[in-house]
Amino acid sequence: MFSTAFLDLPALQGASGTVTLPGSKSISNRVLLLSALCQGTTVVHDLLDSDDTRVMLAALRQLGCGVEVAGTTVTITGLGGRAWPSEAIEFFMGNAGTAMRPLTAALAVQGGDFTLKGVPRMHERPIGDLVDALRELGCAIDYLGNAGYPPLRIGQPQLQVDKPIPVRGDVSSQFLTALLMALPLAATDRAITIEVIGELISKPYIEITLNLLARYGIAVERHGWERFVIPAGSRYQSPGSIHVEADASSASYFIALGAIAQGDGIRIQGVGADSIQGDIRFMDAAAQMGAKITSGPNWLEINREAWPLKGITLDCNHIPDAAMTLGVMALYADGPTTLRNIASWRVKETDRIAAMATESRKLGATVEEGPDWITIHPLPAGQWQRASIHTYDDHRVAMCFSLAAFNADQVPVRIEDPKCVAKTFPDYFEALFSVAHTAAENIPVICIDGPTASGKGTLASRVAAQLGYHYLDSGALYRVTAHATLQVGLSLEAADEAQIAQLARHLPVRFEGEQVLLNNVDVTDAIRSEQGGMNASKVSVLPAVREALVDLQHSFQRLPGLLADGRDMGTVIFPNAPLKVFLTASAAQRAERRHKQLISKGFSANIDSLRADLEARDARDMSRSVAPFQPAQDALQLDNSSLSIEASVDQVLSWWQGRQVFGA
Ligand code: DC
Repeated sequence: MFSTAFLDLPALQGASGTVTLPGSKSISNRVLLLSALCQGTTVVHDLLDSDDTRVMLAALRQLGCGVEVAGTTVTITGLGGRAWPSEAIEFFMGNAGTAMRPLTAALAVQGGDFTLKGVPRMHERPIGDLVDALRELGCAIDYLGNAGYPPLRIGQPQLQVDKPIPVRGDVSSQFLTALLMALPLAATDRAITIEVIGELISKPYIEITLNLLARYGIAVERHGWERFVIPAGSRYQSPGSIHVEADASSASYFIALGAIAQGDGIRIQGVGADSIQGDIRFMDAAAQMGAKITSGPNWLEINREAWPLKGITLDCNHIPDAAMTLGVMALYADGPTTLRNIASWRVKETDRIAAMATESRKLGATVEEGPDWITIHPLPAGQWQRASIHTYDDHRVAMCFSLAAFNADQVPVRIEDPKCVAKTFPDYFEALFSVAHTAAENIPVICIDGPTASGKGTLASRVAAQLGYHYLDSGALYRVTAHATLQVGLSLEAADEAQIAQLARHLPVRFEGEQVLLNNVDVTDAIRSEQGGMNASKVSVLPAVREALVDLQHSFQRLPGLLADGRDMGTVIFPNAPLKVFLTASAAQRAERRHKQLISKGFSANIDSLRADLEARDARDMSRSVAPFQPAQDALQLDNSSLSIEASVDQVLSWWQGRQVFGA
């Protein structure tokens, strides 16, 4: 996840590949409970790992279900046809509403000696309407705290299923969902009718419930949205295996991406055209605008077809969340796009009509808006502005406007507060970068070259963290090369140059946070020693070794950007970098810093000999024939002898901001 203040998206040019989207929460917990109520085994694929699903899994284990977790695949052996536990069980539901409500219903209908509790907040969340409905059916439920709220105590029911069970529909659709999933347990020999009192809210969620019930063999008869009949003889049947769909509104960004970006198409793994989520209908709108979409079980493939896209007018009432994505597609269309019947946008995380209008205008677009509609005009080449997109703590604004990075003018787009995507899709930008591509010259590199112990590693990695950029410690590559050289019994001298270069070309090195792994072995401490630095300096004078490490260093230049530190980042490896810093500090200062560092790690050290070593190393690095250590002509000098780390970081960031100007 990007937790930076802003994320600068370089101009993007295309996208190809596969993204796997996180599973839908509402589907995950329904599927777990339904699998538990079946006879036999159900393999659940792509389960969402979240607090709510963990609570449900723990409860199912307590009930005696078989639960085997292997990554996102969970195998449930159900309770159907087996004796339910007769001993007293206390369940802890945390704050998981999607576990508490349906479990209460299923346990109450089945009967036993059960207590359901949660965190204090759970004890403030109403459940009275569900309890009333279950009592009407003959279930034995007592409130252990305040009437109408958990904790609850469940006993043996005396079921009376001869009259319709009333349930309120205007408070939470979860009560109806809970009844729909529990009552098949009681409908073995006669039909049971549920009657909804009041206007039913959140109908798409009831559709999800009905759909999943059908997959588990329960064919509920729906009469409008007022009456639901569970037929006599209903019995849960395991589908054998089932995939939890990915969240359909999250898919909209990648459907749009496939329609906008050049490339070999985008494949979305986890949700298909037959999705049971209402927002999947976004794909029809995207197709109307020109996307070519094919689908199979649990996947979608999107290719760019009509270009520019086609402007459309659409009533978006059925896809309020995903429709925002159409607003950004509209910028790439051949005529205006009008999205109608979107009054609900005004009362979401932010006033989304105002947000879409304001931010699109920053990019240069012409936008008209009304109380429940918005018209967005296409933005032709030559008119795109560099904009800093304000995201209003609204995940969808952030995800939508990331798609503006494909603009014809190849201007970058700044997304403020990128972590707001965490609400539904914490790794959204990582997923985007995994399929998006652009020319190397669009991916910014900030070079920080400097002598040993100048603090360039600390500076570069801190600046990288502030910008959300990757980080390359090129010195570590020379250190690892020297380490590998000695390990295989070669010398660090020119005599072995060709063999060392061969080693360097296929260096099995991996960086994991602060750790450096060679052949999966942690060599961090070994290469970070003074001797390790000296050895690195020795192999680094060999031209063939330097050449062998070039491709590896270039491979770090990935979206969204790179901080690279070393000796020749600005001069040789990234000569076109838009910002180069040449970091210096006096030898006395550097020796003192290194001394402190070693002492703090419990090593003994002598300042004078450290200083002599530093100076010897500087001299070798500066005098070698290939890529001698020297400032690039266009490098900015930063002497940090008397600067704090924070002050150095601020200086580099302010230089960078000066070169990356975005309109506010
Ligand atoms: O930055 P460092 O102390 O980890 O670097 C160790 C040695 O590696 C340094 O003395 C010279 C060499 N080096 C280099 O030649 N070119 C680089 N870009 C980085 C390091």
